[in-house]
Amino acid sequence: MKDNFGRTINYARISLTDRCNLRCRYCMPEEGIQKFSHRDILRFEEIGRVIKILQKLGVKKFRFTGGEPFVRKGAIDFFEKLNFPFNITTNLTAPGLDIGRINRLNLESINVSCDSLNAEKYRYITRWGDLNIFLENFRKLNVKNIKLNVLAIKNFNEDEIADFIKFALEFNVTVRFIEKMDFIDDGLEFMSLSPVKKRLISQGIIEKRPLLGKNSVAVYHRIKNSKAKVGFIAPESESFCAKCDKIRIQATGDVKLCLFDRRSYSAKKLLRGGFSDEEIQKWFEKILKNKKFAPSEKKGATSIAALGG
Ligand code: GTP
Ligand code: 5AD
Ligand code: SF4
Repeated sequence: MKDNFGRTINYARISLTDRCNLRCRYCMPEEGIQKFSHRDILRFEEIGRVIKILQKLGVKKFRFTGGEPFVRKGAIDFFEKLNFPFNITTNLTAPGLDIGRINRLNLESINVSCDSLNAEKYRYITRWGDLNIFLENFRKLNVKNIKLNVLAIKNFNEDEIADFIKFALEFNVTVRFIEKMDFIDDGLEFMSLSPVKKRLISQGIIEKRPLLGKNSVAVYHRIKNSKAKVGFIAPESESFCAKCDKIRIQATGDVKLCLFDRRSYSAKKLLRGGFSDEEIQKWFEKILKNKKFAPSEKKGATSIAALGG
């Protein structure tokens, strides 16, 4: 499936729910966001159908997100039934999480979010999260490709960069620092990653040359004398929109062609409107022609929780 700029779209991010057990300050207000009713969100069978259609269109990579995907009842059963390698982004702290079952999934990668290794700061940023629960689950996690997502915030966790790198080395995982995008008025200070990267290179902590790899929003550098990597996701200081290869599907079945696009296209209407797979396939190809080369402004149009990050 190609857009008007000749870009091949092969990555779909599918949000299973807009709900979350945490309330990260940059993501959700304390009271949460408008919750969709069960009727409004795609049933697992409908999501399965969308996946099949997208696979026919050449989509190779699927990442399931939330809110927090594991707070949706039946998420793990759904994942267990998928017959292809897939990816999940999670905060790893949903109540009742069964890490043994996660370890047995057909996972290509799992991205886990944690913005502080200090219990008080972790609680502050998530509003009520418990770092011990995260760490307990993280230690049990036994998946090939684990990435730790750390949202970089000035005067909050800028002093923890070295700790996160140590942590990545200890657990042999990739740590990725992320620049904050403005979706809600959170009062948290933006931190540019370009001086952070420069400093880590000049201190001889990471290799100067970025690693070549698959198309990704992250730029990776090897940690010197190790196999571990540090990634930088810098939507503000580095632009990666030109190589965009993805679409997003919200839990409601609304298709978003860009994180910052105000428009959405309801796949649910077709799924529930008696349309055939072939008709829906054509519909995806048609709406894709509306994908812009890059957003005109990087301001959140919808809640990032509903968009799945
Ligand atoms: P990989 O498949 O491991 O490369 O994952 P990912 O980085 O695509 O997924 P993840 O859910 O871990 O997202 C990490 C961060 O990247 C989040 O802050 C996302 O909001 C951000 N991100 C992912 N895709 C895009 C994108 O297309 N545009 C922008 N601006 N940010 C993105
Ligand atoms: N800016 C950048 N990244 C964000 N995430 C959530 N909100 C924002 C934001 N405003 C990230 C989380 C998580 C991923 C799903 O999205 O840190 O790792
Ligand atoms: Fe939940 Fe992730 Fe948003 Fe935090 S960033 S509130 S963990 S969805």
